[in-house]
Amino acid sequence: MKDIEIILGIESSCDDTAAAVVTADRRILSSIVADQTMLHSAFGGVVPEIAARAHAEKLDFAVEQALSEADVTLKDIHAIAVTAGPGLIGGVMSGVMLAKGLATGSGLPLIGVNHLVGHALTPRLTDDLAFPYLMLLVSGGHCQFLIVNGPDQFERLGGTIDDAPGEAFDKVARLLGLSQPGGPSIEIAAQSGNDKAFAFPRPLLNRDGMDMSFSGLKTAVLRSRDAIISEKGGISLKDQSDLAASFQSAVTDLLVEKSRRAIQVYLEQSPVQPALAVAGGVAANTLVRAGLKDLTSKMSVEFIAPPLPLCTDNAAMIAWVGHELRRIGHPGMTPLVPRPRWPLDPRRPSMLGSGKKGAKA
Ligand code: KG4
Ligand code: ZN
Repeated sequence: MKDIEIILGIESSCDDTAAAVVTADRRILSSIVADQTMLHSAFGGVVPEIAARAHAEKLDFAVEQALSEADVTLKDIHAIAVTAGPGLIGGVMSGVMLAKGLATGSGLPLIGVNHLVGHALTPRLTDDLAFPYLMLLVSGGHCQFLIVNGPDQFERLGGTIDDAPGEAFDKVARLLGLSQPGGPSIEIAAQSGNDKAFAFPRPLLNRDGMDMSFSGLKTAVLRSRDAIISEKGGISLKDQSDLAASFQSAVTDLLVEKSRRAIQVYLEQSPVQPALAVAGGVAANTLVRAGLKDLTSKMSVEFIAPPLPLCTDNAAMIAWVGHELRRIGHPGMTPLVPRPRWPLDPRRPSMLGSGKKGAKA
C-alpha cells in the first residue's frame, strides 16, 4: 500500500461530518458522510453551535470508520487533508483541531484545504478532467462560476449576489408547504404542474456578466401564493404544482442563460477540450441538468456531472485536493488557521452573506 500515496480527508465546514481515504490514482477507498439534518430540522436551518458540537462528537468516529472501511491504519497514510475554510467557523475548528491532533500524534504532514477547491477539483477525481475547465457550483450554500486553471488557480466569473439556488428551493418549498430539503420535493410537485401558469421574474437575466439573484424570485412566489390564498382561501394541489413548476423553470432559465455567457468567456481561452462541470445539490435537478446538457451540446462543450454523493459535501474531495497540492509541491494553507471566509479568487470575492449557511467564500 505504501507505494501509492494515500490521504485521509476530513470535512466539517457545514452540516456534514465526513472522513474519507483516497489514493493518488483516484480510488476512493472509503467515504463516510454523517449528515445532521435531524438535529437542525426543528430550527428551519443549520444552527452553527449545534453543528459544531455534533462535529466535535462525531468526527473521530467518522475517521475510525473511514480507516476501517478502507482497510488501512494511520501507518498506511501519507498525509492528512482537512477543510480549513470557508464555512461555519465552529465546525471548521472542530475538524482542524482533530486533524492537528492526529498529525501531531502520527507525525504525518497536514494540509489545510479550501472547501470550495474540493468541489472545484472533483471532476478531476471522478473523470480525470484536464485543466482548464469551467465549473458551476450550485448548492444550498454555493453559487458561482469558476474557470479552473490549476489546483491553485481559479478565476471567478460571477455568482449569486444574494441567496444560493438550493436555498431558494428550500425557502419556496416551505412557502408551498412541501417537505425539506426543498429541491427534491419541488421537483416532484413540478412534474404535474404547468411551468407557464405563473410568469415569475428572471432577475438579472439580461444584465451583462454572470452574476445571479434568486431572492426576488422567492418573493414573487410568496406574492403569488398569498394572492391565491386571499382569492380562494387556500392553495390547491394544482396551484402548488403550478407554482413549483413555474419557479423551477425560472431557476433553470437563469442558470442556463448565465452558463451560456460563462461558456462564451471560457471559450475565449481556447481550451483544447472545453468542458463544463457542475457540483452541488441543485445539480441533481433533472430540468437543470437537461438544460445544461442541451446548452453544452449546442456549444460543443463536454458536460460533466459527478455522481451525486461527490457533488454534495464529502471528504473524498478534500483528500483529493491534498493529492493535487502535494503533486505541485504546495503545502496547503500556511499557517493552518481556520477561516470563515476564504475566496478562491481574491480579486473577485463573493458577496458577504450569500448562501444560507453563511458567507462561504
Ligand atoms: O450540496 P448540498 O448537499 O449542500 C450544500 O448546500 O452545501 O446541496 C443541498 C441543496 C439543498 O438546498 C437542496 O434543496 C438542493 O441542494 N437540492 C436540489 C435537488 N436536490 C437537492 N435542488 C433542486 N433539485 C433537486 N433535485
Ligand atoms: Zn460544499
